[in-house]
Amino acid sequence: MNKNFYGIILFALGLVGCGGGSEEGIATINQSQAFVIHSNYDWKLPAGFPTPRQPLDNPMSAAKVELGRFLFYDTRMSVNNTFSCASCHEQRMAFTDGRKTAIGATGEIHPRNSMSLVNTAYNSAFNWANPMLKSLHQQALIPMFGEFPVELGWANQEEKILDNFRIDVLYQERFAKAFPNETHPINSGNISKAVAAFTASLISGNSPYDKQVYQNQKNALSESAKRGMELFFSETLECFHCHGGFNFTQSSQHDKTIIPEIEFHNTGLYNIAGTGAYPDNGGRGLWESTFKAEDMGRFRAPTLRNIELTAPYMHDGSIATLEEVLMDHYARGGRMIATGDYAGDGKLNPFKSELINGFRLSASEKEDMIAFLKSLTDWEFICDACFKDPFGNIPDHQNCFK
Ligand code: HEC
Ligand code: HEC
Repeated sequence: MNKNFYGIILFALGLVGCGGGSEEGIATINQSQAFVIHSNYDWKLPAGFPTPRQPLDNPMSAAKVELGRFLFYDTRMSVNNTFSCASCHEQRMAFTDGRKTAIGATGEIHPRNSMSLVNTAYNSAFNWANPMLKSLHQQALIPMFGEFPVELGWANQEEKILDNFRIDVLYQERFAKAFPNETHPINSGNISKAVAAFTASLISGNSPYDKQVYQNQKNALSESAKRGMELFFSETLECFHCHGGFNFTQSSQHDKTIIPEIEFHNTGLYNIAGTGAYPDNGGRGLWESTFKAEDMGRFRAPTLRNIELTAPYMHDGSIATLEEVLMDHYARGGRMIATGDYAGDGKLNPFKSELINGFRLSASEKEDMIAFLKSLTDWEFICDACFKDPFGNIPDHQNCFK
């Protein structure tokens, strides 16, 4: 078959609630790469944003997004009815949890910091350092079924958890709408697809930065934030090389992408006993997949959108504030840990990226940088009713009441 075969398929799109779309959608698909490129699903994209790709085996529809929203917030998603996706991904913290590292439904400690779920529809890689995951619905199976650690606890409990939804008339209707051609739609594969569709709908692009740069509002950014923007995009600070593009991250793809970029970097966060080592148990990044020496401590540069709300920072939540990230880590050219098990000078890590060299900032330049990073906060996104808990249990950010 022609490698770049483009076909037209028809699929049903329900018209409910927040996501957009007509009953019958037309989609352009690229079969060689298994992506839907264009469909009638209305992403409600902010100005300047490209169209996300949709996995061929999980095209977007408004009905699927709406089902996914209920599931995302439903504590019946966990083995002991205590946890949902939202237990670790809260809207008021840009879908993080405020913890250093996450805790699962049965109390097991996750080695990593919960990631922000912002514009993940554009990700070409998922999680802090996983080169294998290629879609949001593959990703969702990890918190559902993962055992090291247990997050939602589906392993060996699948039928019991599915029964929660099978006996619920409202869910019977929602699944029928979201998966209209299936006789037994309430299964774990479809649950992962629906929560993935909801996650993909979480698009943020109305921060003061976006208003200034993409929406032509000349004074959306303060003078201080404008100066910070210049620093961020300068060859002295180098931030934009790894946190670049409209989504402030490297590993992105969209309708116009030819070869998706997937990059991982060692930023000099650790250098245990001068050997270059990072802490074990989830802390070694890409090395855990490849076992190659040079991949030690290499992680994906996450998006910096809404970064003000997602503390603590880094893959293990080991830096508490943005100021410390900027000054004690990046300006120093790598973090110094003076005492304890992890003692070592990150600046001298032999596997560190050549882009992390350190720099000097005056007190006012530091303030400008922080003002710029805070200008990436999108309050319309943080307060968007379409993304809220439909059960009303998870609190909103206090700014949403103003
Ligand atoms: C126990 C807390 C916890 C639960 C519950 C949880 N997550 Fe996460 N989530 C995390 C952590 C921690 C990471 C980073 C994982 C890693 O790098 O190994 C993450 C990463 C992600 C990512 C990757 C984001 C990116 O930019 O790559 C997505 C998407 C995601 N979670 C969606 C979900 C969905 C959907 C659910 C519900 C089915 C869910 N999560 C449940 C803690 C959790
Ligand atoms: C060489 C690529 C690279 C450069 C240059 C770079 N970063 Fe990063 N950044 C990363 C990676 C990779 C991570 C995750 C590292 C980890 O967790 O170990 C990260 C993490 C962060 C985080 C924490 C994100 C979160 O969600 O916890 C912030 C904030 C940040 N960088 C800001 C900056 C700023 C500001 C600059 C410029 C001074 C900069 N970065 C330069 C690659 C880079």
